[in-house]
Amino acid sequence: MAVIDKRVAVVTGGNKGIGFEICRQLAERGLRVILTSRDVARGQAARQKLSDEGADVVYHRLDVNSDESVGELAHYVEAEQGRVDVLVNNAGILIDESGVGVLGTSLDIFRKTLETNFFGALRMCQAIAPIMQRGHYGRIVNLSSGLGQLDEMGDGTAAYRSSKTALNALTRMVSTAVSGDDILVNSMCPGWVRTDMGGPNAARGVETGAETAIWLAMLPHGGPSGGFFRDKAPIPW
Ligand SMILES: NC(=O)c1ccc[n+]([C@@H]2O[C@H](COP(=O)([O-])OP(=O)(O)OC[C@H]3O[C@@H](n4cnc5c(N)ncnc54)[C@H](OP(=O)(O)O)[C@@H]3O)[C@@H](O)[C@H]2O)c1
Repeated sequence: MAVIDKRVAVVTGGNKGIGFEICRQLAERGLRVILTSRDVARGQAARQKLSDEGADVVYHRLDVNSDESVGELAHYVEAEQGRVDVLVNNAGILIDESGVGVLGTSLDIFRKTLETNFFGALRMCQAIAPIMQRGHYGRIVNLSSGLGQLDEMGDGTAAYRSSKTALNALTRMVSTAVSGDDILVNSMCPGWVRTDMGGPNAARGVETGAETAIWLAMLPHGGPSGGFFRDKAPIPW
């Protein structure tokens, strides 16, 4: 088994948007980044762009909805890279119909949304956290949203909101499950960011949207775990 002497990060949904920017910024901080995407051509094009900038980025296909795909990725990183130091659960979908609210949203939309935004992250944690435990180090960053805050829960985008609330609960559970090793697990909200999901009118660019995720990915020993952050500061659940 090859073991490299620099930290290795896995980013889900790395082909565009905030995930792509997270790949770029982690590489800038000296990590080897495994940029993953469900579509090979889009992912390879994104990897090429970062490689052209001089980043140490490797591509691997990953559909977080698939047990097989997640299993293959986990096997690849442990066999070929020998370690995973950072996992960024960034992949997400927002497929709610506008204006229908919780009472009008089909169970199918709820199921599909939870499949990616919650079960996808759960699959990744179950596959990757044991590798981190074997290495006695890890940083897991879950891309959540203020829309998942119970504190400010409303009726719109009900499936998306539910998925992010569930993701936040997952953050707390995994944080507890891995305590004892130097593995820190946190949720973050990037703010409203100009991406395909956020739309062109969003207030923030991807550089700002990625900042808190990078901060959490690089936390020193003894840093927070089981928290929810925006702009590097705790926010209510
Ligand atoms: N933008 C915002 O304002 C905002 C605000 C709060 C939270 N967030 C969260 O931040 C994260 C990134 O959002 P974004 O704005 O960058 O969204 P985006 O531009 O729509 O990108 C989403 C990424 O997730 C990938 N993805 C979706 N389903 C997947 C699957 N089953 N397996 C693997 N990858 C999958 C997409 O791949 P494809 O290209 O193949 O579709 C894409 O790479 C999401 O979790 C989102 O909920 C965003």
